[in-house]
Amino acid sequence: MNQHSVPLLEAARRYLDIDHAPFYMPGHKRGQGIDREFVDLLGETFFRLDLPEMPDLEEPVAEAEELAAAAYGSDHAWFLTNGSTCGVQAMLLANCQAGDKILIARNCHKSAFAGMILTGAVPIYLPTEYLSEFDLDLGVSPATLEAFLQQHPDAKAVLVVSPNYFGVCGEIEQLVAIAHAYNVPLLVDAAHGAHLGFHPDLPISALQAGADLVVQSTHKVAGSLTQSSILHLQGDRIAPEQVDRALQVLRSSSPNLLLLISLDVARRQMAIQGKGLLSETLRLAKEARSLLLQVSGLRTFDHIEVPTLDPTRLTLLVDQLGITGFEADIWLHSQLDVMAEMPTLNQLVFILSLGNTQADIDRLIFAFKQIAQDTQGKRNKKQEKLSPITNYQLPITNYQSNLSPREAYFAKSDRLPLEKAIGRISAESLCPYPPGIPLICIGEEITAEVVEMLQCILRSGGIINGASDESLETILVVKT
Ligand SMILES: Cc1ncc(COP(=O)(O)O)c(C=O)c1O
Repeated sequence: MNQHSVPLLEAARRYLDIDHAPFYMPGHKRGQGIDREFVDLLGETFFRLDLPEMPDLEEPVAEAEELAAAAYGSDHAWFLTNGSTCGVQAMLLANCQAGDKILIARNCHKSAFAGMILTGAVPIYLPTEYLSEFDLDLGVSPATLEAFLQQHPDAKAVLVVSPNYFGVCGEIEQLVAIAHAYNVPLLVDAAHGAHLGFHPDLPISALQAGADLVVQSTHKVAGSLTQSSILHLQGDRIAPEQVDRALQVLRSSSPNLLLLISLDVARRQMAIQGKGLLSETLRLAKEARSLLLQVSGLRTFDHIEVPTLDPTRLTLLVDQLGITGFEADIWLHSQLDVMAEMPTLNQLVFILSLGNTQADIDRLIFAFKQIAQDTQGKRNKKQEKLSPITNYQLPITNYQSNLSPREAYFAKSDRLPLEKAIGRISAESLCPYPPGIPLICIGEEITAEVVEMLQCILRSGGIINGASDESLETILVVKT
């Protein structure tokens, strides 16, 4: 296929020239009825292209999806305008009915837990490996998957995350081989992996490893607009009609044309220029790492054995500077004009992608030299004040949760003070955000350990998402 062609961008050019009386959605009618200040800010073209599904759009969308499948090496691709959230849920809905067992990595994003509420699937949680010294989740090991499949060969699918927020890809080829040996499809949430497969120095992509169904947030690391993602299918374990059917249920009936166009051009960019652009990103990442490692007190994952780490994802451990990741984050963006992707209690995660420049790296280095200088002297004193909790391994109270997420969602619930809820079944999922991985999953027993973790994160300036009571003073539990 000709990866230079961009069917949706070409369609957009044709639509720009149309001169007709618009009696269709959206109500602003190609910008004629929208707030003028907004038009002045974004320009006329943007609004002239905010169009509904035009009658002749079906063909360019299908062509653009075929081009994406060819570029990424899948058999079918679906453009999504509701992020990988929609893709993760579609993967579950396409494979599981109510009561079906699914083996699911405990480090999955909250969209997977929402997907289980929708489908009624019964999760068997796969524990992930954890490197406490670096507070780093390494994902599901092949040995774990093998052991769980031996015990649950009737599982309808396995769902794992690769890469995770820290860029850990794991031993994905082995996971694929194990799942397939049991004739179970491997579904991969590759929200952070839309660039993999386009450069030999990057880990292989989940599709290259042979995974069956893979969703990628093109918007997170490649060049498309926020909320645009691609769902890919390969092989014959899952029929494309199953995926189509699931997407019929989940997708908006008004996909945003600008998002679709952005997926088309991002695919062309990756297919044609990806290797060159990623070479520069990798160069910048290498430079940043080596200079940051010279800053006293800073650590990265560089010298540790991690199964396939994406080098474009940079995590800095700031604990030895005597500050939390949350404090460093505020410092960086309020005083040093640097914005990280994700703070945690001990770390800051930076996404380096084809949009970053040498100037960005220079600022990052300068900022950390400054922080290291300013924290000198205060370090020992501060460290004493840090939380006594240093181990944030995802808690698994029970591999098979007491109630399925769907049962817990629809069960009658009580609101209890958080401390009094220990030992009860949670009726909601609570996740530090980002990364959006629930510390308490809906349907799971609430433990003292997890309550302490949540309170510590909140006290340290983290954000907890999903809680019906944002203060975390109370929590919804399933009525007994
Ligand atoms: C691992 C993972 N999966 C899925 C998602 C959801 O992706 P999206 O924001 O594209 O809906 C995220 C979002 O951060 C994520 O980190």
